[in-house]
Amino acid sequence: MAAPETKKRVYIKTYGCQMNVYDSERMTDALAADGYAPTDRMDEADLVLLNTCHIREKAAEKVYSELGRIRVMKEEAARSGRSVTVGVTGCVAQAEGAEIARRAPVVDLVVGPQSYQHLPRLLGEVAAGRRAVETEFAIEEKFAALPKATRSQTRSRGVTAFLTIQEGCDKFCTFCVVPYTRGAEVSRPVAAILDEARRLADAGVRELTLLGQNVNAWHGTGEDGRAWGLGELLFRIAEIPGLDRLRYTTSHPRDMDDALIAAHRDLPALMPYLHLPVQSGSDRILAAMNRKHKAADYIRLVERIRAARPDIALSSDFIVGFPGESEADFEATLRLIEEVGYGSAFSFKYSARPGTPAALKDGAVEEAVMAERLSRLQALVDAQSEAFNRAAVGKVMDVLFEKPGRGPGQLMGRSPWLQPVAVEAPPERIGTIGRVAIDALVTHTLVGTLVDMPAGPRPALMAHSAETAP
Ligand code: 5AD
Ligand code: SF4
Repeated sequence: MAAPETKKRVYIKTYGCQMNVYDSERMTDALAADGYAPTDRMDEADLVLLNTCHIREKAAEKVYSELGRIRVMKEEAARSGRSVTVGVTGCVAQAEGAEIARRAPVVDLVVGPQSYQHLPRLLGEVAAGRRAVETEFAIEEKFAALPKATRSQTRSRGVTAFLTIQEGCDKFCTFCVVPYTRGAEVSRPVAAILDEARRLADAGVRELTLLGQNVNAWHGTGEDGRAWGLGELLFRIAEIPGLDRLRYTTSHPRDMDDALIAAHRDLPALMPYLHLPVQSGSDRILAAMNRKHKAADYIRLVERIRAARPDIALSSDFIVGFPGESEADFEATLRLIEEVGYGSAFSFKYSARPGTPAALKDGAVEEAVMAERLSRLQALVDAQSEAFNRAAVGKVMDVLFEKPGRGPGQLMGRSPWLQPVAVEAPPERIGTIGRVAIDALVTHTLVGTLVDMPAGPRPALMAHSAETAP
């Protein structure tokens, strides 16, 4: 089908997790087939989509305040004879579909995360003067029906890419909306994942991050007819030429099986960084959260992972102020952090989410107490993270160059441990991995010097590097 002559423009604002980043890219692809070109300027868009997050109250509230601003913009556009369509997608759309329509009349379109393949049809309904709300669960259909990115679309996305292999969650942690907004756990089939991974590699992607709300619960039937878990899948994906680096996120401690731990030991492409949320270090709170493991189980698991891959950097999510959390419970969390030692971590004040079991629990922790606990926890994590980054100074490590840096002649890349690294290097090095000696830590960025010669017979580049080498 030929695309229309004059392109309409779509602006997508993405909130929340990397799954949403991935979904926004897929929506861009679906809309490209429908004649929409992406723009990064909201004020020139014909279609504005907010791809939203419902995980904490603040995330959801941001959407409503943005819709307030969009209403003003839409009215201004209407005065100059231009019509703007406004849509809300993502988890707020799923959880609050009807309420959005009531609270924000500016919204023409509400689409939940499992229905993006219907965007073109829903836009047709809006064009016919109807408001379109769709929040069905049909996740297998979504993956099968969304158009695959074309080579040029993928190329523009650069050196690193996300690939959603699993969606939804069956864990039902009592604080969490994900099982309600994203639905039951669904794994994509091996063939579809390999096909998409190959496409991305062909388009120049060097680092692939496999995504899922509960990514290590991924399971499927392998090409050998056997049951595969994430470990087997990673081994297979690593065979695809060009994919030098693999990562995955987010994992649940209960789904770290032996094959996955073995992948950390035996698969050089699997980067030594693991986001493994524990949420709390108190067994009482872990039980109330329905995490189904104790603090000691988590610590033993970390020991097994570190035995497999001694240099692995760990990160986690923490919630402070879960209903009923006492000072002693909180101190158990601090002790766990001290015992594990994290490279980085995210931490949040508990936020009651409508429809979740924890929202009905007594024992709300006062806001001031939550704030005080959060700042103590963050001070501890910041100190660990600073020490971890400082320990990189003086080392030589592989850096994957991703994009131009801030300074002239500088590139930004990432270490195997996901640390940002700024290096003086020619732009041709983007998309390659270089050996970098780390000279300094400036706030959260490592600054280093390229110490390798570029791979392959590229004389012009070699001459250039030789000149700039110290
Ligand atoms: N309140 C606070 N934090 C939450 N998270 C999930 N739900 C809530 C909530 N209701 C945090 C968890 C999770 C991360 C993505 O967000 O730490 O791992
Ligand atoms: Fe939410 Fe728990 Fe599932 Fe993670 S494992 S998405 S925190 S319910």
